[in-house]
Amino acid sequence: MANAPPIVRGDAGIAEAVEALRAGKLIGMPTETVYGLAADASNPNAVARVFAAKGRPSFNPLISHVGSLDTALVEGQLDERAVRLAERFWPGPLTLVVPIGETTRSCELARAGLETIGLRMPRHSVAHALLNAFGGPLSAPSANLSGQLSPTRAEDVTRAFGEEVTAVVDGGPCRAGIESTIVSALPDDELRILRPGAISREQLELIIGPLGDAQPGAVSAPGQLPSHYAPNARLRMDASDIAENEVLLGFGPDTPEGAANLSAAGDMIEAAANLYRLLRALDTEGVETIAVMPIPETGLGEAINDRLRRAAAPREIGR
Ligand code: TXA
Ligand code: MG
Repeated sequence: MANAPPIVRGDAGIAEAVEALRAGKLIGMPTETVYGLAADASNPNAVARVFAAKGRPSFNPLISHVGSLDTALVEGQLDERAVRLAERFWPGPLTLVVPIGETTRSCELARAGLETIGLRMPRHSVAHALLNAFGGPLSAPSANLSGQLSPTRAEDVTRAFGEEVTAVVDGGPCRAGIESTIVSALPDDELRILRPGAISREQLELIIGPLGDAQPGAVSAPGQLPSHYAPNARLRMDASDIAENEVLLGFGPDTPEGAANLSAAGDMIEAAANLYRLLRALDTEGVETIAVMPIPETGLGEAINDRLRRAAAPREIGR
């Protein structure tokens, strides 16, 4: 794109990013899951720019990223269950949806008018440094145009945006490569997984016991739309062979020689980390369909298959 934002690094890069954020501008921020398009969560104009830059069809709630538990406790009300999860999984790829705090600085637009808020403390050292230097919450959806693949490298972000983003802070390739797991911890309700993600259900249930699922129709946010996270090519799941104009995305040791492979060893963590990068690499001109070999539902397989099902879902015209 013309005038792609510069990639910045190190302390100078973080200082530049903080200055831009304070001025209500947008920056690309690395996290351990995917790159975020960050704005000052307390500044509705800045948050509005995030929706505009992404081309989000509506004002869906954004996650407020925090650098410390103290900041989280200003933004939201964490009950005993939420605190237990935060203590075990923060910093890390867990987002907790909780009631807003009386002192919350995250503006109404960031919360899409809800009385609840999604809070997450990223583990990535650059994100951590940036959040602590900024001092307040940052709204940061994944730094991609609405409906497209999430970015796992700084260059993925610079390719998608122009001058509306001031700079992208480089943090190298994202380790987890798939978004955070979202758990709701709301009063008078059981804990629920709203979006499967980089922390598996098993890991969470080991700490907190059985978790419910999202109630159908409860929140309509992009990550919960049937068609989302999609490459330009069509996607076909559970493929055992490929047809003309298809490319194969393999998984495990049975993948044919020479084909892209999410994980030759069949390792779910490696597969999650490779997912968006390989979909992006295979999504080239002339490829009609990416055929993906079956992936078991175990561990991070739940999140991987969730993203694949959305990418494979029928698409609205003009999306
Ligand atoms: O890993 C991640 O979570 C990445 C990185 C950048 O941190 N962020 C991310 O943000 O995936 P985004 O905006 O693409 O997805 C945020 C999701 C929305 O789809 C929405 O469903 C959910 O968070 N969410 C946020 N606030 C919520 C709330 N109050 N109630 C229910 N869901 C909420
Ligand atoms: Mg997203």
